[in-house]
Amino acid sequence: MPIQVLSEETINRIAAGEVVERPLNVAKELIENAIDAGATAISIEIRDGGISLIRVTDNGSGIPADQIPAAFTRHATSKIRTESDLHSLTTLGFRGEALSSIAAVSQVEMITKTRDSLTGVRAATLPGTETGGEDRIPLDLEEIGAPDGTTVIVRNLFYNVPVRRKFLRQPQTEAGYITDLVERQALSHPRISFHYKIGGQEKLHTTGNGKLKELIYRIYGREIAARLIPISTDLEEYHLEGFLGRPEVSRASRNFEICFVNGRMLRSDLLSRALEEGYRTDLMQHRFPFAVLHLELPPEQIDVNVHPGKMEIHFSDRQRVFDFINEAVHSCLHKVELMPDATVMTAREQQAERKRLQEEEQKREQAAPHPEPFEARRLDRVNRDRSLEADRLAGLTLREETAAYAPADSPSPDDGETLPRGGQQNQQ
Ligand SMILES: Nc1ncnc2c1ncn2[C@@H]1O[C@H](COP(=O)(O)OP(=O)(O)OP(=O)(O)O)[C@@H](O)[C@H]1O
Ligand SMILES: [Mg+2]
Repeated sequence: MPIQVLSEETINRIAAGEVVERPLNVAKELIENAIDAGATAISIEIRDGGISLIRVTDNGSGIPADQIPAAFTRHATSKIRTESDLHSLTTLGFRGEALSSIAAVSQVEMITKTRDSLTGVRAATLPGTETGGEDRIPLDLEEIGAPDGTTVIVRNLFYNVPVRRKFLRQPQTEAGYITDLVERQALSHPRISFHYKIGGQEKLHTTGNGKLKELIYRIYGREIAARLIPISTDLEEYHLEGFLGRPEVSRASRNFEICFVNGRMLRSDLLSRALEEGYRTDLMQHRFPFAVLHLELPPEQIDVNVHPGKMEIHFSDRQRVFDFINEAVHSCLHKVELMPDATVMTAREQQAERKRLQEEEQKREQAAPHPEPFEARRLDRVNRDRSLEADRLAGLTLREETAAYAPADSPSPDDGETLPRGGQQNQQ
């Protein structure tokens, strides 16, 4: 084959592959755009694991009519002007790539209205239309009535890239990934109300009242919510806030070490290691903490431009961040007595009791063959029920603690229901 320059369509679709690998990435980008637009309420609906439909609606700023084509243009963004703006970034997006990438591999419809304009605009991509050598996606635009904010509907993901579609998992599995994502986004922004539906069925509805512990209760259930230690620490310009799970709710994997940096969801080995180091005297080997932590630090001390999916960051002073988290976690864990019966137990007895609880948990997990994510969630719930029953039998009541976090529309702790709605929502 002779060497040829690829068509703009092909280039766009290849580039889109960096941003959109599966429905999860579409949902993440659309939710991040809604957060960046200053929304206080975001609703998300998916069908067929997000493959046939993902709809994200926000009540944020909206996009002015004359800027809609630019929103769908590759490398066009309202969030930075020059590379130096990356050092003072306060938004989740900055590449100007998400919408154009999504539109290159799906059928997109957007309805948007700013507060200042009287009417909204509906924009729809025109599948199969050549771009004519520009990076701009061709759009059909019409004026319509709409509420303030933006709705983006993404249909038929990868309809024009069958090879990618083939690599998608079962809709149920793809939906599970998106559920995890939405839960984490809700934890990352407790002041935003999230409403999430799968196939028309409500899976999560958060109030946006800012109470992180209430969110943890809804998402991870009563057993964990009743065993949390609040943490709130400052060191000069660093601020750490959130909840640490007591050592007895340790996990078999790092999946529940949930850290946000300046509201950004990410993976960070540094933060995980610092957190684990803080727990070092309290957890057995191969056990990992449950924690939801928000770290705030000046934007110039982090670099977010290191991962195409914006999932990793670099810290300019790694050692300082590590020491801050490690010491904050360690001293928080040891400031409070970890055992309910602390007054009658010696330190050695407490340690033995913790070890026994962790061993029990470990045995339970080992008894099950390596579960799939969905199965793991189901087992988590079963274990939660079991331990709740054990608590009940031991006469240890969690009612007082949980009543404070029970959302008004959840089953009351007295009605024999062992799970909050949040604990039941994860299975499709
Ligand atoms: N829900 C929304 N509300 C208001 N404006 C939006 C919304 N979604 C997109 N935009 C506008 O469209 C632009 C392009 O969005 P896009 O997601 O493609 O890029 P980005 O968010 O700037 O960067 P990134 O590629 O890192 O996400 C944004 O910069 C923003 O101005
Ligand atoms: Mg974006």
